[in-house]
Amino acid sequence: MGRLRTIKNANNLIKNDPLIFNQNILSKHKRKNFYLEIGSGKGQFIVQQAINNHNNIYIGVEKSSTIVYKAIKKIRKQELIPSNLYFINCDAKKIFDIFKHKIFKKIFINFCDPWPKKRHEKRRLTSLPFLCLYQKILKKDGIIEFKTDNDSLYSFTLEVLKKNKFKIMYFTNDLYKNLNNIFNFNNISTEYEDKFFKKNKNINKIIWRC
Ligand SMILES: C[S@@+](CC[C@H](N)C(=O)[O-])C[C@H]1O[C@@H](n2cnc3c(N)ncnc32)[C@H](O)[C@@H]1O
Repeated sequence: MGRLRTIKNANNLIKNDPLIFNQNILSKHKRKNFYLEIGSGKGQFIVQQAINNHNNIYIGVEKSSTIVYKAIKKIRKQELIPSNLYFINCDAKKIFDIFKHKIFKKIFINFCDPWPKKRHEKRRLTSLPFLCLYQKILKKDGIIEFKTDNDSLYSFTLEVLKKNKFKIMYFTNDLYKNLNNIFNFNNISTEYEDKFFKKNKNINKIIWRC
């Protein structure tokens, strides 16, 4: 995977873009269902979700301003710019300061960093501290959908969920062998998913309810 060249003024380039989230958006769309992707990268997945489901509001959280800039630049080249899509340029930890209520129907976590070292376990976006925080912004019965190429992160996540009695709705260690399953029927692939699929890497998926 190619190295990303940092764009030094990406922060300034994106800050006034209408695709960047601000608090007014919550009242503007207050009757709609909100969906969040954490670590949305260049936006392939969240953009497609927004196009397919224009009655819902999609928000992508991405810590790199360069990557958010690239996502927005790509969207601006499209003929139709979804009016139900926004980005937040911040670390996942900060979203709990931005959203103080249970507003999300679903959170997507796609191909997040595995943080393989034991001492970095708490940085994994599926570690227990994060799972508890997600409950603060997920609606009652809200759902989390998680996909990863990383088999250890998949096992770790299943273990944390089982140990802490989360309601696992679905799991598979081979999404592409189970595309006919009702939970995978409308699968939208992410940029990283495409890359790993091309390398014949199995893709893991877990869905759970909070
Ligand atoms: C491996 S990429 C996956 C991108 C996309 N979800 C996909 O599947 O193609 C992980 C992305 O998450 C972002 N990221 C990693 N940790 C994050 C965090 N704590 N908060 C927000 N974004 C994060 C990275 O900058 C990167 O763009």
